[in-house]
Amino acid sequence: MKKVLITGGAGFVGLHVARALLAGPDVEILLVDNLRRGRRDDEVQALLADRRCRLLEGDLCEVSTFEAAGKGFDEVYHLAAVIGVRNVMERPQDVIRVNALSTLRVLDWMAAGGGRKLLFSSTSEAYAWTQHVLPLPVPTPEAVPLALTDLANPRSSYAGSKIFGELAVTQYGRAHAFPFVIVRLHNVYGARMGYEHVIPELHERVRQGQTPLVVYATDHRRAFCHVDDAIALMQAAMANPAADGQTLNIGNDQEEVTIGDLAQRILRRAGSSASLEARPAPHDPIKRRCPDMRRTCNLLNIRPRVTLDMGLDRTLSWYDTHPRPPLAR
Ligand SMILES: NC(=O)c1ccc[n+]([C@@H]2O[C@H](COP(=O)([O-])OP(=O)(O)OC[C@H]3O[C@@H](n4cnc5c(N)ncnc54)[C@H](O)[C@@H]3O)[C@@H](O)[C@H]2O)c1
Repeated sequence: MKKVLITGGAGFVGLHVARALLAGPDVEILLVDNLRRGRRDDEVQALLADRRCRLLEGDLCEVSTFEAAGKGFDEVYHLAAVIGVRNVMERPQDVIRVNALSTLRVLDWMAAGGGRKLLFSSTSEAYAWTQHVLPLPVPTPEAVPLALTDLANPRSSYAGSKIFGELAVTQYGRAHAFPFVIVRLHNVYGARMGYEHVIPELHERVRQGQTPLVVYATDHRRAFCHVDDAIALMQAAMANPAADGQTLNIGNDQEEVTIGDLAQRILRRAGSSASLEARPAPHDPIKRRCPDMRRTCNLLNIRPRVTLDMGLDRTLSWYDTHPRPPLAR
């Protein structure tokens, strides 16, 4: 029986990881989450109906949470973090505190035998600031300098916390001789990703019949990765010892789109003929972002398979039946 612990297990990526693991045999899962953003909704309840999956409600900044979790896990997915533009802009100090401290707690616990192998979820934001000062290649490989260029900007809190996390995981893993893999997620999307994201936001306004459809940063290019592909790559990175000690991009480099094209696809799916009203990007100055997936795909011998239209359909079908609840507005 494989014992797996998932921090942030009631969140977007965590729930999908748990669901994918439970689809296989011989696994026992502990989700750890303080439910600050993750919720005990129908989908978490459905996971918990499976006796192989449990939820520990606790704060990963507190040592007592790890005492309650126990030790001896085979795989640890460290996904918990405070994320999102609103959190980053309004409470950057919490982003730094929670993301850094929870990671140190996880690492101390790993060093004391909490788990055998650790996967740490980092982000493309780790090198986004470097792009302000150096001409990085796009698609961007993993081996690029990580920089923070404007510490007074609250947005640097998230990137800084993840660069710190990558550093801490690497040095603890080496010092305490436990295997780890760092994965940098790039624009992962899918059902239950929240409502503060370009895909559900556009979908919501299309459903409300906004005409013209207001779209920010129409000319920005992004490579979206459906969560099913991201999970398959993460599971492979966890399972494959060839990934130990590596930093791997997780994304989909096969179908870059402009945000304008993304909006057109969402309109087409809804059968709407609304025109677009282009507005400038409010926060994000990075015009093109796409991961270079060669290291990940060659090492793990798998590739993303979900096309953007397939993934949008899977995602938006979920949002069709789960519109934003009134209290979340
Ligand atoms: N979704 C993406 O496209 C994307 C992109 C880059 C990186 N990532 C990284 O992937 C990871 C998962 O992202 P997500 O989209 O699932 O986020 P999410 O917000 O849906 O999930 C994170 C979970 O962590 C929990 N959490 C936060 N602080 C906690 C604490 N102190 N104690 C216990 N639980 C706590 C939250 O309640 C939430 O359920 C994050 O580390 C994020 O930085 C995601």
